[in-house]
Amino acid sequence: MAIVEFDMSGAAAFVGKDAVESLKQEIAEASVKLKEKTGEGNDFLGWYDLPLCGDEEYKRVLAAAEKIRSDSEVLVVVGIGGSYLGARAVIEALTDPFANANALSGKGGTAVIFAGNSISPVYLKSVLDLVKDRDFSVNVISKSGTTTEPAVTFRFFKELLEKKYGREGAAKRIYATTDKARGALKKMADAEGYETFVIPDDVGGRFSVLTPVGLLPIAVAGIDTDALVEGAKTAFGEYESIDNDCYAYAASRTALLRSGKKVELLVNYEPGLHYMTEWWKQLYGESEGKDGKGLFPAGCDFTTDLHSMGQYIQDGVRLMFETAIEVREPAADLIIEPDEDNYDGLNYLAGRGMDYVNKQAAKGTAMAHIDGGVPNLKISIERLDAKSIGGLIYFFERACAISGYMLGVNPFNQPGVEAYKKNMFRLLGKPV
Ligand code: PA5
Repeated sequence: MAIVEFDMSGAAAFVGKDAVESLKQEIAEASVKLKEKTGEGNDFLGWYDLPLCGDEEYKRVLAAAEKIRSDSEVLVVVGIGGSYLGARAVIEALTDPFANANALSGKGGTAVIFAGNSISPVYLKSVLDLVKDRDFSVNVISKSGTTTEPAVTFRFFKELLEKKYGREGAAKRIYATTDKARGALKKMADAEGYETFVIPDDVGGRFSVLTPVGLLPIAVAGIDTDALVEGAKTAFGEYESIDNDCYAYAASRTALLRSGKKVELLVNYEPGLHYMTEWWKQLYGESEGKDGKGLFPAGCDFTTDLHSMGQYIQDGVRLMFETAIEVREPAADLIIEPDEDNYDGLNYLAGRGMDYVNKQAAKGTAMAHIDGGVPNLKISIERLDAKSIGGLIYFFERACAISGYMLGVNPFNQPGVEAYKKNMFRLLGKPV
């Protein structure tokens, strides 16, 4: 059984197997471009076989995580986009939803709080207030070292740490994950004596979760990073031949795009996967949305959003297809007990697990959406554990690269991200 399985049967009525099969040649060509590094953006392919590397840097990451867990109630992770979404996705998928609340109330563990991913003073003040009377450390993450949101946020935490622990003490609690040589952050880290971790030159932000960018915060959250990397390695090994589930997903979404669909809606039935969708949105949005091309990546959490977005999906403009993530074995289940009065009429479910109900909701939703003209793709993992999530990350990264090459774009650049910055800097009067 593959670490991540893919099923396109829910799209068969919209794009036949033939349409997908006919893309085999294109898939093969895209695969060669990746493997032989001959495609556009080939200087950003470090992620491709990254899970195969185990090195000194990784050992330092684990040692730093241990230190943070021993001396800090809170780790504040300062970063935006690819410099935080991967870590947040993995942490939220694999930890108790109340892990931070528990850590903050002294029940063990280190709370991992994200900041620097907006310019909201309201949010920033709340985080500063939260940590000011606690022992905390900061992991500031920026490949360029010049991104406004994390840079301005970091100023506040640096000042607070220095006030609390002195300049030297603060330096022992600041971990900078950045370029190996360039950028303002690297310069500051070297001058102040912060421990630094390297974001490899050939790994873009949205592909960096299995570098120190993701691994340090993930390890601080108490997640087994060896198993996470192992899952990605397993997936890598499964994609040696081109007949694999990952490429079948890339082919199916490409066939759906070419059949006229404009939006891919990633849906889950586990609230812990919300940020996996946010990470996936960035991965596919920044990789494919260029030159006037690309599926718009959107996301919903089901069944929650069936009560808000369900109407549109069922009945609105027929522009989307759905990709559902299935987790086969829940981390926990609860049995519904019979009730003598049965006021709520739910005794027909007595003896059933909540997971059974959730799974029937997923099946019923897929059937309804297919009937309503929404093709359904399904991606399955066995359970929400580190190995499966590592596999899922690599599955999406590899499928994204293959899809991008089939689309005819460079999947590894993001020229459009600069446009807002130019205007913002001009309005702020940044010196040129
Ligand atoms: O994927 C990307 O390249 C972006 O989302 C970046 O990660 C994001 O803009 C943050 O950039 P940096 O890490 O340079 O601060």
